[in-house]
Amino acid sequence: MTLDEFLASTETFSNAALPALTGAMSLEELEAARIAFLGDRSGQLKEIQQQLREISAADKPSAGKRFNEIKARLTAGHDARRAALATLVDSGPALDLTLPAREQWRGGKHPVTTVIDEIVGIFRELGFTVALGPESESEWYNFGALNFPADHPAMDLHDTFYLGEGALLRTHTSPVQVRTLQRHAPPIRILAPGTVFRRDPFDSSHAPAFAQLEGLAVDEGISFVDLKATLTLFARRFFGRGTRTRFRPSFFPFTEPSAEMDVECQLCGGRGCSACKGTGWMEIMGSGMVHPAVLESAGIDSERYTGWAFGMGPGRIAMQRYKLPDIRLLYDSDVRFLSQVAE
Ligand code: PHE
Repeated sequence: MTLDEFLASTETFSNAALPALTGAMSLEELEAARIAFLGDRSGQLKEIQQQLREISAADKPSAGKRFNEIKARLTAGHDARRAALATLVDSGPALDLTLPAREQWRGGKHPVTTVIDEIVGIFRELGFTVALGPESESEWYNFGALNFPADHPAMDLHDTFYLGEGALLRTHTSPVQVRTLQRHAPPIRILAPGTVFRRDPFDSSHAPAFAQLEGLAVDEGISFVDLKATLTLFARRFFGRGTRTRFRPSFFPFTEPSAEMDVECQLCGGRGCSACKGTGWMEIMGSGMVHPAVLESAGIDSERYTGWAFGMGPGRIAMQRYKLPDIRLLYDSDVRFLSQVAE
């Protein structure tokens, strides 16, 4: 065998062996290629080595050099591929980069949050700012300062979770009225959204933890006319221009006089349906003139200042807005529902 023949044969061999060794897709495939090309017994490299013997003494050094180069290159290629395949195996199933990307989740506002934001937006234009208070409250702020006489039956509607040592989970956002009046001098116009708690059954119209939104305006010369005008304006902005409202006399220890405000039922347009129990009206809030005793317990001169307050349930309002038959839909966190109403 001439030197040229030998070099040509090593070239052919190397062209076949190198891609098989460095491109093997699994350890098994790599091992098969190693045995075929580099194997001690019947590998093709062995054959080439045997051809070396047929080379003349003069050409042997160049042929041997070439042989060693190719052997080193193939062995290195094999070792590197083995190391690479081993880490792939260690890191679990092979990565499939052709897999289409998973669709991203787009977050959205919960309908109750949307309602609160919208109400806050309407009242902001009337000069109201947002105030917050604690969810764990003292009995004094929740009841005493709000003119509930001890053991008054009105508290039965506010049965709650008592935390011990005079603390409880607030049953309404009205304590924020007192906290605000203590801290700021009139004129005051605030909205206080937040979560409140009652020992209510979890049924289609009640939840033991729900959102409330308190409103309070205190200044000199504020009258019931301001209350009716502001709340009616609100209802028309929120539900639509022609929306009818009505005020019904009611009772709260912390307002005098007190009124419930109804808007015409949004589900039936006032004709009467099961949601409004056939009346055509939906109660959306309690309201009234702030009781002088409340102003006094917060240290405000009730001879000089008057005010009005309201408390509404954004969850109930969301039910009207989105025509929901069951309040529990708002608390289930079921994305099949939320994705239909989230904004
Ligand atoms: N706090 C009352 C309730 O939870 C609602 C209310 C607030 C009524 C302010 C009048 C004035 O039922």
